[in-house]
Amino acid sequence: SSDIRDELTDILVTEKEIQDKLRELAARIDEDYAGKDVLLVGVLKGAVMVMADLARSLCGHVQMDWMAVSSYGAGTKSSGVVQIRKDLDSDLTNRHVLIVEDIIDSGLTLSWLLENFESRGAASIEVCALLRKPDAAKVQIDCKYVGFDIPNEFVVGYGLDFAERYRNLRDVAVLAPHVYS
Ligand code: PRP
Ligand code: MN
Ligand code: MG
Repeated sequence: SSDIRDELTDILVTEKEIQDKLRELAARIDEDYAGKDVLLVGVLKGAVMVMADLARSLCGHVQMDWMAVSSYGAGTKSSGVVQIRKDLDSDLTNRHVLIVEDIIDSGLTLSWLLENFESRGAASIEVCALLRKPDAAKVQIDCKYVGFDIPNEFVVGYGLDFAERYRNLRDVAVLAPHVYS
């Protein structure tokens, strides 16, 4: 079958850079949450890879839960409407919640999630996002753990999709415009 790498232009963040950064973030998280149980909340589906690799770099006690929300559908622009596809299984009361995301683009998904979580009685809520696009922000998100600030280009790989494809790439790459235009 064809190689999906032919549909990419630049590699923006390599597998090695991602893994090094996640180890660095994990060390900070271990220090900040020393002695506390952390509830990692992965935002499906994009956050699966970050969750898997970040969690395995943490030394402290963590639990994992998942929330499935979607706002992009099959396009390259956020619809601005966030839909819950799957809610959490856990009760957030008195929990130290760390939301794990692949990317903060417009910020609309996280701003909606943070507001949704705020009423659930958590002891603390923080955000860890591998990628952030400062030039695409429509709302400001207070994100304590950020991996990389990247330019405002449509990126795929390491969990990030275009129409559900490319999530399985090990690197984060720019999708060639001919693929979506
Ligand atoms: C993507 C990405 C983030 C969100 C970021 O999810 O995984 O969750 O968009 O964009 P925003 O800051 O503009 O809201 P998507 O809605 O594509 O669902 P997916 O994770 O299932 O791909
Ligand atoms: Mn997502
Ligand atoms: Mg998506």
